[in-house]
Amino acid sequence: MKKDFLWGAALSNVQAEGGYLEDGKGLNVYDTLEVIPEPGIAPMFCDTAVATDHYHHYKEDINFMAEMGFKAYRFSIVWSRIHPMGDDEKPNKKGLDYYEDMVDYLLEKGIEPVVSLVHFDMPDHLAKEYNGFLNKKVIDFYAKHVESVVERLKGKVKYWITYNEINLAPFHSNLVAGAVCPEGMRQTEMYAQLTINTEVAHARAVEVIKRVDPQAKVGGMLGHAPFYPLTCKSEDIIATDFKNKMHNYLPFDIMTSGRLPGYFKTFMKRRNIEPEFNEEEKKVIYESSKKLDYLAFSYYRSNVMTSFEGIDDLVELEDAILFDTRGLKNPNYGANEWGWQIDEEGLRYSLIDFYQRYEKPLFIVENGIGIDEQMKDGKVYDDERIDYYQRHVSSVKCAVDEDGVDLIGYLAWSPIDFLSSHKEIRKRYGFVYVNRDFDDLLDLKRYRKKSFYWYQKCIATNGENLENNIEY
Ligand code: BG6
Repeated sequence: MKKDFLWGAALSNVQAEGGYLEDGKGLNVYDTLEVIPEPGIAPMFCDTAVATDHYHHYKEDINFMAEMGFKAYRFSIVWSRIHPMGDDEKPNKKGLDYYEDMVDYLLEKGIEPVVSLVHFDMPDHLAKEYNGFLNKKVIDFYAKHVESVVERLKGKVKYWITYNEINLAPFHSNLVAGAVCPEGMRQTEMYAQLTINTEVAHARAVEVIKRVDPQAKVGGMLGHAPFYPLTCKSEDIIATDFKNKMHNYLPFDIMTSGRLPGYFKTFMKRRNIEPEFNEEEKKVIYESSKKLDYLAFSYYRSNVMTSFEGIDDLVELEDAILFDTRGLKNPNYGANEWGWQIDEEGLRYSLIDFYQRYEKPLFIVENGIGIDEQMKDGKVYDDERIDYYQRHVSSVKCAVDEDGVDLIGYLAWSPIDFLSSHKEIRKRYGFVYVNRDFDDLLDLKRYRKKSFYWYQKCIATNGENLENNIEY
């Protein structure tokens, strides 16, 4: 691995901060959404008002990161802390101060900040009054928000991520894009329009970042889970190819080429979808493609796909594949309690695949495993997490050292415990345990898990020593 490889981890602030309406923050979709539990999981949702209180503990949490030897740390700026309503004339100074202090503290500790600009945090007012990114006005508000943030942090933040898991916007539209399907709109129409609008938002952010801080590096980001065909029947292979394009590749295809790919145009044409997409927007997408520095993605698992029996109509069949909820399982892999299958080779495959397809530097900005764990006498023996990381880091090393992938860094998920995207504390991801329960805040104290020391050693040896021989 290169000497300047960026080892570290990432966090979604809206899931960790709490600090509910403090210092002028407004409500956002993560605060207000009613969550649907993951399939097969009994709901044990937490209130987001305190989360894991990162708002008040951020220096302590960054100290842990420094102790682990982080070279980089990715966090997100909560949109409704800066623009509490979203359509505010002026940004909230206290919100900007907060994140600038955070960036200064990271720099003081020698940690490179990597900043995400929208991560499940659309201001609630923009969601309710405008229907989020389905409304073009929201793209303007977003561009303005990005400008306020970049103006404040320019020269300090080198790596920006425009939009967390942009490909999931049409699939989890309320959380990821603050939008719901309006009455009378087909789901496929919403899919197409939201894809275009979020791509325009991404492109506008690229334009702002490169104009305000030309030295900064900007990347787009996907939530990547490759689909494999469950069988070698041609219909399953074709179904999988369609799903991968529409679910995974589409945003990167647009961001890197600066235009809509043929398969997406065919998809719309077959359904007589005529999205709103004007010449100015086309131009901004095209221009931004020339300025994009890297491609970032999260990776947790792979998935499998088959075609559907008994659907003869092609459009109907494609729609069923696109919005498939069968949750098919790959018989070759184990999974965590939430059914997320563990497939480290899929990470190596994704790195090679993206690198060959796009020929751009890549950045892994999320990778980790959620585990329901208990602390006993101040200790958490999370060997399952260490095992997951050993496998995935080994795969990353193969992709870099043997397959020649240009990789900027590897950011694990996550430095500290926080609430899952489904507002659960039970599904923990951190190297540091935060002492709270789902209904009781306890004392919110921080404790180093066993994996903390494992990752510290991994970073200190630049990924060479991955053995689980930690004295704990
Ligand atoms: C990614 C998100 O989808 O996966 C994170 O960017 C999220 O915000 C992570 O926390 C893990 O998913 P979950 O649902 O277990 O929190």
